[in-house]
Amino acid sequence: MAQFRLPPNSKIVAGKTYKAPADAKNVRVFKIYRFDPESGENPRIDTYEVDMATCGPMVLDALIKIKNEIDSTLTFRRSCREGICGSCAMNIDGKNTLACTKACEDIKGPIKIYPLPHMPVIKDLVPDLTNFYAQYAAVKPWLQTRTPAPPDRERLQSKQEQEKIDRPAACILCACCSTACPSYWWNGDRYLGPAALLAAYRWIIDSRDEATGERLDALEDPFRLYRCHTIMNCTEACPKNLNPARAIAEIKKKLAERRH
Ligand code: SF4
Ligand code: SF4
Ligand code: FES
Repeated sequence: MAQFRLPPNSKIVAGKTYKAPADAKNVRVFKIYRFDPESGENPRIDTYEVDMATCGPMVLDALIKIKNEIDSTLTFRRSCREGICGSCAMNIDGKNTLACTKACEDIKGPIKIYPLPHMPVIKDLVPDLTNFYAQYAAVKPWLQTRTPAPPDRERLQSKQEQEKIDRPAACILCACCSTACPSYWWNGDRYLGPAALLAAYRWIIDSRDEATGERLDALEDPFRLYRCHTIMNCTEACPKNLNPARAIAEIKKKLAERRH
């Protein structure tokens, strides 16, 4: 069960219920976490009845319909609507995932929607990702070279070299993995978390990068890397089917090999 970081001295209270129109044909119930830190009020769970006969199939379609037609104060992030921007990551039916690729019909009963676990909440379903992005920046997620580039072409890779980074480079930075990781929940200020470590790995194994040793040095730390206890929640949570847990294990292996 996901954990939520409630504001100090607060508890979740029952919220409002928005009934579906009397002529609604196919009603689904959405129970959504609502919290506005500026209001001074407790977080609450609002209940929205949505007529799916006039709604798209995904959870994000329902959120947009609620915002457009039922309650314009509901706040959430979204952009691409096709699983490539990572903005709509939230906790749906107890699991971190993307609202735009999660079909309502795959969920039984009321559809419960919370923000990503253990993150400070800016409003409703919008977590504060400042620390998450700072950790991504800390692994220097760009090509670092020491030698001059060839004068007449790019720095090339073989097909096999490209294939090694192909999957790790597909990360959309949605934060589903890091916010599913118990080690990150309790040590998120010092442990980099699976998303940032996957990015670090992507550059460590890039055949064109010439800062591999420095990148490994930066991770040789009891907190930044070694707080991962291989619980695997991260890999299970990733909506892009990436494997941050394996990437972390590979980094540990490279560090161990270096010591011998
Ligand atoms: S494998 Fe490591 S990073 Fe992934 S959830 Fe477990 S502790 Fe967190
Ligand atoms: S590894 Fe997967 S879950 Fe983690 S940030 Fe990247 S896309 Fe999201
Ligand atoms: S809106 Fe872009 S990933 Fe869902």
